[in-house]
Amino acid sequence: MRLQGKVAVITAASKGLGKGIALRFAQEGAKLVIASRDEQSIQAAAEEIRNITGAEVTALAVDVSRKADIEKLIGTVRTTYGTVDILVNNAGGPPAGTFLDFDDEAWQNAFELNLMSVVRVTRGILPMMMHKNSGRIINITSAGVKQPIPNLILSNSIRAAVNGLTKTLSQELAPHGILVNNLAPGRIDTDRVRELDQIAADNTGLAAEAVKENWTKQIPVGRYGTVEEFANVALFLASDESSYVTGQIYVVDGGLVKGY
Ligand SMILES: NC(=O)c1ccc[n+]([C@@H]2O[C@H](COP(=O)([O-])OP(=O)(O)OC[C@H]3O[C@@H](n4cnc5c(N)ncnc54)[C@H](OP(=O)(O)O)[C@@H]3O)[C@@H](O)[C@H]2O)c1
Repeated sequence: MRLQGKVAVITAASKGLGKGIALRFAQEGAKLVIASRDEQSIQAAAEEIRNITGAEVTALAVDVSRKADIEKLIGTVRTTYGTVDILVNNAGGPPAGTFLDFDDEAWQNAFELNLMSVVRVTRGILPMMMHKNSGRIINITSAGVKQPIPNLILSNSIRAAVNGLTKTLSQELAPHGILVNNLAPGRIDTDRVRELDQIAADNTGLAAEAVKENWTKQIPVGRYGTVEEFANVALFLASDESSYVTGQIYVVDGGLVKGY
């Protein structure tokens, strides 16, 4: 029970990586506040996590690209627990496409979804961490920050800014006992990755299975990762065991990225 009694806030947690992390944290004794846009989906995820682990889980509908929704989330966290030990900043991915596919509005939407969400949720939660001089912030980004992924220009660009934010924040917050790291998935088997494979299939005339096979050939471990494997690294970063780790990008990709 490595997170016994800790309070964790996890956004975009009704399925995929966010839900996997929420479940893993609950298995280790954490109390959760989880959020995603769809009320029914997030309540169902909370119920499932409670049934499996017996953990205390508060769930609410929040669109992290909307400032007012984030204020609602912060208000709920304050009134429910008044304290936060672990924050996982996660969101949906921006649309796939190349440079000429996107106008200003699309760029602005990606900025709100994948950068400003991290800024606003962190700003709201931070006073509760600073108050007790301890905390962990884990930002979910993408292996695209190390090696840009074709047809994902919005993600490749905006997530680079999250790197800058994380590194700078890690330096500002270390004296307050707060550690900040990025967790960057490669090809973890979730709906998002299945959708991206389908888009690539539609664009190339290949079957989605063939697209997956092409990716798999580039992954030395020889397969897509599981949500559980990804969540285990999040658990390390959330736990006391990572007490000397901050400002880092943890790529969880089975060796997909070939650079240092
Ligand atoms: N899986 C991978 O290997 C991989 C690789 C690179 C990057 N990523 C990135 O990691 C993040 C999570 O990916 P995933 O694979 O877990 O995706 P997923 O399986 O599609 O799940 C996305 C989750 O985000 C929630 N969500 C989407 N937009 C939201 C918003 N505006 N506000 C609040 N919640 C929102 C969804 O719930 P609602 O629909 O209820 O909002 C859902 O719970 C994404 O940003 C994705 O681009 C994933």
